[in-house]
Amino acid sequence: MKNTTRLCSTKPIVTINGKFPGPTIYAREDDILLIKVVNHVKYNISIHWHGVRQLQTGWADGPAYITQCPIQPGQSFVYNYTITGQRGTLLWHAHILWLRSTVHGALVILPKRGIPYPFPKPDHEAIVILAEWWKSDTEAVINEALNSGLAPNVSDAHTINGHPGPVPNCPSKGGFTLPVEPGKSYLLRLINAALNEELFFKIAGHSLTVVEVDATYVKPFKTDTVLIAPGQTTNVVVLANKGGGKYMMAASTFMDTPVVTVDNLTATATLHYSGTLDASPTAFTIPPARNATQVANNFTGSLRSLNSKKYPANVPVTVDRSLLFTVGLGINPCPTCIPANGSRVVAGINNVTFVMPSIALLQAHVFKIKGVFTTDFPGNPPFRFNYSGSGPANLGTSNGTKVYRLPYNATVQVVLQDTGIIAPENHPVHLHGFNFFAVGRGLGNFNPQTDPKNFNLVDPVERNTIGVPSGGWIAIRFRADNPGVWFMHCHLEVHTTWGLKMAFLVDNGKGPKESLLPPPKDLPKC
Ligand code: C2O
Repeated sequence: MKNTTRLCSTKPIVTINGKFPGPTIYAREDDILLIKVVNHVKYNISIHWHGVRQLQTGWADGPAYITQCPIQPGQSFVYNYTITGQRGTLLWHAHILWLRSTVHGALVILPKRGIPYPFPKPDHEAIVILAEWWKSDTEAVINEALNSGLAPNVSDAHTINGHPGPVPNCPSKGGFTLPVEPGKSYLLRLINAALNEELFFKIAGHSLTVVEVDATYVKPFKTDTVLIAPGQTTNVVVLANKGGGKYMMAASTFMDTPVVTVDNLTATATLHYSGTLDASPTAFTIPPARNATQVANNFTGSLRSLNSKKYPANVPVTVDRSLLFTVGLGINPCPTCIPANGSRVVAGINNVTFVMPSIALLQAHVFKIKGVFTTDFPGNPPFRFNYSGSGPANLGTSNGTKVYRLPYNATVQVVLQDTGIIAPENHPVHLHGFNFFAVGRGLGNFNPQTDPKNFNLVDPVERNTIGVPSGGWIAIRFRADNPGVWFMHCHLEVHTTWGLKMAFLVDNGKGPKESLLPPPKDLPKC
């Protein structure tokens, strides 16, 4: 634990090696990573390497109670995995409780030695981690919300590389500054490590060329504004094409829902040209409005896989399993809430509110421990309604620890359909263990007859986390070529807490490269 001051108020936070944000891990494609995590705090801990494929090494994926039991206080665990077929920016973060609010950092995967980027090599690189800060302890924030059945307090500020920048009533110094030289180009590795906010990112007077998302190359395009959801990463190239000066970088909320109270601040940082006096004024940028859906859609709609000879987009053209998952929030009665007989916000996929088991699913699967989970996760919603309109008042979810079982190498299509029971909301859904292609996207209800005719099976964006549009749907495809148990959930942490999560169980194949490796000897016990 480390006492840390932000917004003129101090609290102890959990850190890795005393750093907030945590240390950057640099690796190269094909590297074997051995990372020993020693738990010196009072909380159970586990670390997830968000977006790493973990081929055959599901034991090292990290979500607590899914692939491993947590590392208990005083214990340690070595995460051992190889980076295969991936290069770019990813992130690592705690995957238990709300500890990822302070336990997160960058994972930079450089291309193999001698292999260039598929775009002109930038002169310099920098890591830009966006996150959120609460003045109070985040475990207390979520516990209070769970006791009341209501939504948790929103964060007090956003941060860029750990700092909100100067804020009213707390003229803190120490905002992040990126020094630049006129005429040079900079690769910014943007990471959204926030718990509950999708963010816009802008730099005053500079356009951003997007070259990669979620460690997959994209067809480069220019934009003023990047939209980035929790768990997503985006590499942009910025040309320092001014003679000098100071320019504001801003990270602000995108949430196209009717929102009641919001007081979290836009985070700011500075692009500072060499030779510019500290005292000179900073060119200002106005962040997009919170409900700037058009800006968000323009950005999302511009993303395409690079799909070059070297980096082909291997989109599954046929599908073995076609699934429809509704994702959304609802209200269930809550006799035990305070005040009593109130109601509780719940979330689910196909009306199943996922209940965390007390033994990791992967252990239960491999060691054949009965009674931990069932394999009856529904491939379709229990009943149909106008998902994007106002649905039944009560989501009527049932609790369960259910997985959806897939044969090795099956090609899978999942249409993720947002439901508007409380309010339509954009859900950044993350799939562990795979990259998927986002082949289609639309508003309203997905139409299985007509919508697939417009799918992009040539160069759809490939990623590990994607926003299901508010009041709409997104279709993703992946090949189940990674045996193990793989979590899928909304990366808005509060929605995960409420149950917007499930897991796929992928069976072993026949060949030696098609099976999960045996568990590591130091695998934590529950
Ligand atoms: Cu980045 Cu399951 O999470």
